[in-house]
Amino acid sequence: MSRELLHPATLAAQALGSTDASTGAVVLPIHTATTFLRDPDNQYRRGRSYGRADNPSYDQPQALLTALEGGAATLVFSSGMAAAAAVFQCLPRDSHVIAPRVMYWGLRSWLKDFAENWGLAVDFVDATSLDALRCALHPGRTSLLWIETPANPLWSVTDIAGSADIAHSAGALLVVDSTAATPVLTRPLALGADLVMHSATKYLNGHSDVIAGTLTTARDDAFWARLCVARSRAGAILGSFEAYLLLRGMRTLFLRVERACRSAEQIAEALSQDSRVLDVLYPGLPGHPGYTIAARQMTGGFGGMLSLRVHGGAEAAIATAARVEIWKRATSLGGVESLIEHRASIEGVDSPAPPDLLRLSVGIEDVGDLIADLKSALGG
Ligand SMILES: Cc1ncc(COP(=O)(O)O)c(C=O)c1O
Repeated sequence: MSRELLHPATLAAQALGSTDASTGAVVLPIHTATTFLRDPDNQYRRGRSYGRADNPSYDQPQALLTALEGGAATLVFSSGMAAAAAVFQCLPRDSHVIAPRVMYWGLRSWLKDFAENWGLAVDFVDATSLDALRCALHPGRTSLLWIETPANPLWSVTDIAGSADIAHSAGALLVVDSTAATPVLTRPLALGADLVMHSATKYLNGHSDVIAGTLTTARDDAFWARLCVARSRAGAILGSFEAYLLLRGMRTLFLRVERACRSAEQIAEALSQDSRVLDVLYPGLPGHPGYTIAARQMTGGFGGMLSLRVHGGAEAAIATAARVEIWKRATSLGGVESLIEHRASIEGVDSPAPPDLLRLSVGIEDVGDLIADLKSALGG
């Protein structure tokens, strides 16, 4: 059966079904070589010369993610931040870019502290409003619109198709940080995005043991060629073993994400009925401001991320996190173990996170255990 007819879950479980031609092994070997033989006539007909540019251990994870995202090609990077930074570093000097006010704080602070120094002008805009995005564009000068959906830590939702129309009307690229949605729930390229970025550290790997990032492109065009050169010249490359672990993690992506979505929905419902909780931020709750758009552009669930606001401010939130026994108090997200974090503590002064907010990354444990642990941590 042709690959196009197979469900993405089948492609992921079998890592595209590739086997090692020389041994018949159903898991491909990890290539550790940093350099490759030249032909006697000085050519590189096998297509690889040096590990920084041409690591064969990247081929399968890149091909699998390309298939899952429905793109033309993928690059793996040494981290999500390296993947994101490469996009901005490849823009023309003096470009104007638009980024959301609610986004992964590490990228926001990098844009403020570094990108602007290099001559990029960055406007941070309310990306839940297409009108706000439209107004922020400078046709002919804005080269990129960056969105994240659902976005850390409020799980704000941005209309991807609407953003693509707006970006393209001004000649700008639309790039989507789809880390929280994963290709299981959203395919931004099919909605008009030009590039999709993942912190593969999160759901794609899924086991809190690899830092990695990815970019997938809709087209193999000149900007993509520049990104390929940027990765190999700047050297933000993934290790071979990490590439292998990433592929291994992606084989269970669908199972993990489906489970995390189901549990997150149950946790969101249980906590939104608990009077000790001030608010539950989850795009799958009909009361969430992004629910309608999320229901349209996400398929099969609303993700495994949610946030709680508790009565009593930062002190009460930190005390609640101190009382959990099953949830782990740690940053990051998308792993098999559930994590809880007081977000304002990590994000700093310009964070949109209210001081009473706890971010929850739902893992694959029994949901009854997770709810009971939270209820007991909320105290009397
Ligand atoms: C949504 C999002 N984007 C990007 C990043 C950065 O990824 P990494 O930590 O792999 O560099 C993170 C990390 O937390 C993230 O949550």
